[in-house]
Amino acid sequence: IKKIGVLTSGGDAPGMNAAIRAVVRAGFYYNLEMYGIYRGYEGMINDDIKKLESKNIAHVLERGGTFLKSARSAEFRTPEGRQKAFDNLKKHGIDALVVIGGDGSLTGAHLFYQEFGIPAIGLPGTIDNDLSGTDSTIGFDTACNTAIQAIDKIRDTATSHDRLFFVEVMGRDAGFIAINAGIGSAAAATLIPEKKMPIEKLVERLKARKKAMKQSNIVIVAEGGKSGGATEIAEKIKKQLPSYDIKVTILGHLQRGGSPSSFDRVLASKLGVAAVEGLMQGKYDVMAGIINNKIVFTPITKAIVDDKEVDEDDFRIAKILST
Ligand code: F6P
Repeated sequence: IKKIGVLTSGGDAPGMNAAIRAVVRAGFYYNLEMYGIYRGYEGMINDDIKKLESKNIAHVLERGGTFLKSARSAEFRTPEGRQKAFDNLKKHGIDALVVIGGDGSLTGAHLFYQEFGIPAIGLPGTIDNDLSGTDSTIGFDTACNTAIQAIDKIRDTATSHDRLFFVEVMGRDAGFIAINAGIGSAAAATLIPEKKMPIEKLVERLKARKKAMKQSNIVIVAEGGKSGGATEIAEKIKKQLPSYDIKVTILGHLQRGGSPSSFDRVLASKLGVAAVEGLMQGKYDVMAGIINNKIVFTPITKAIVDDKEVDEDDFRIAKILST
């Protein structure tokens, strides 16, 4: 391997810049040429590819977003799109790839490896934490910190006005951000897609908290919840508890921005080096992750399919602490 291309794809996540920097620095350390592929697979198809130098990665570690930019490419899902992308890589002599992104992005890397034999390693870059083969994905910790800081602020005003807030957090169809935000912000309840909570149960819990003279009530709702998002749940509760003053806040994309936490910087940096060393050792079509503080390589097909579940203990703990 002589020339490695690196790209970020799908929803951006804090720590992606730190990961790119580590990949490029490690590449330079091993005397490899490093190429930035801009706007994910779109850039591969449109030949938006540039050789990277040291100056490109100066002062990026601490910045949110991704300086390589990101996109969700529909064209890369077609065989014609992937052929164009491969031709562009060949043109630049790029002989290996590091793909930083979530399950869709890693699926792309897997397909590309299957079709063209381009050695590829994936890095888990998503705030959702919904990839197997790693305890935490790059960006998850920062997103949880951001959510919790925002919820703390909501709590101030909720308490002042004796209001019940429904706060919707991201996570697509996974409840990892929600369960952490729920535990970390003393939520009255946490609704996650992995566990069904009947509306009656939530009503009961809120009534019990009122009896116990709780000063404020914040219910965390994961965006992918089976009974709907925060707005739908709030409407249902309003019907059952008409005397409550209810407000809804959707945290949305603010959870994707900001300077990465120390945890995400270190995780991204370790995994960036692991990706380059893994490629040099012939580990292809795998995702690098960290489990129990050890770097592990998991086949991409396993990392994306075996979606990990919110820990049963976390769910139990959240419940104990909110009743
Ligand atoms: O996968 C990251 C994520 O932020 C999800 O939590 C969310 O459902 C989705 O991306 C939003 O995607 P977009 O920015 O394309 O609207």
